[in-house]
Amino acid sequence: MQTLPETLCYLNGELVPVRDAKVSVLDRGFIFGDGVYEVVPAYGAKLFRFDEHMARLNRSLAKLRIANPLAAERWLELARELVAALHGATGAADQLVYIQVTRGVALRDHVMPADLEPTVFMMVNPMKPASAEQRHQGVACISARDFRWERADIKSISLLGNVMARQMSADHNAVETILFRNGFLTEASSSNVWVVQEGAVLGPPKSEHVLEGIRYELIRELCEDVGIAFNLRPIPEADVASADELLLSSATKEVLPITSLDGTPIGHGALRGKPGPVYARLYEAYQRAKATQSI
Ligand code: PDD
Repeated sequence: MQTLPETLCYLNGELVPVRDAKVSVLDRGFIFGDGVYEVVPAYGAKLFRFDEHMARLNRSLAKLRIANPLAAERWLELARELVAALHGATGAADQLVYIQVTRGVALRDHVMPADLEPTVFMMVNPMKPASAEQRHQGVACISARDFRWERADIKSISLLGNVMARQMSADHNAVETILFRNGFLTEASSSNVWVVQEGAVLGPPKSEHVLEGIRYELIRELCEDVGIAFNLRPIPEADVASADELLLSSATKEVLPITSLDGTPIGHGALRGKPGPVYARLYEAYQRAKATQSI
């Protein structure tokens, strides 16, 4: 077994070292994957787009009929406390806050029991940013059929489909697996995917087949700030393969250029297989947003 960190985490009202935190074997998160999560980035020990992540947590909880167990101020207070503790202990200023809420502990029964006390868990880890080489050269991805369930809009901890999809790319030394449902782009195993076509950024429309990443709205704002057209519309597989540029986005990847898909270089002319100008402008705008919007 891996050595677990001593870093403090929050579990059901207490702050304990991660390696000592324990939940019941009858937790419905353990038995059914019955719970939701969030991953919030912190830069310079300050939280980035925290309110947006909390709003999505509320949406995920509501879809599963789990009452939010904590008030908004308490979530913020706890996240700040854990980020400050890790910053103090290790000096790590850029971190990821992981939040998980499960329905709670009950005898095994598929029916959702009413009035359970949800299990609340929060931990922080140093962020592992994309390397300078990945930003300079772009990353390789593979594609696969989207074989996950049809409620990808819920940020559920039931991630076996995503785990299996991600492993396919890991097996090919690639960074992500880009998923297509009925011939149209949905997302990647743990990121959203963006197509650049004729200078415009295109993304799949919000639906039950795509997680609405917090970067959906952020990228829309950044495009508006720097004067790049932004449009959500169904994207056929052929438009992905022939894109001028392809991008990934997530809390951990920010925006990251994809320069090869299934072994074929992305882009055209001199920029074939290289990160493009739209990526460069969005990445720069993203860095400005981090510096000005973290709380
Ligand atoms: N993943 N789609 C999926 C399936 C994801 O798991 C994620 C995030 C995203 C991007 O969402 P956001 O911009 O809010 O990070 C899209 C997180 C980082 C994870 O599971 O670790």
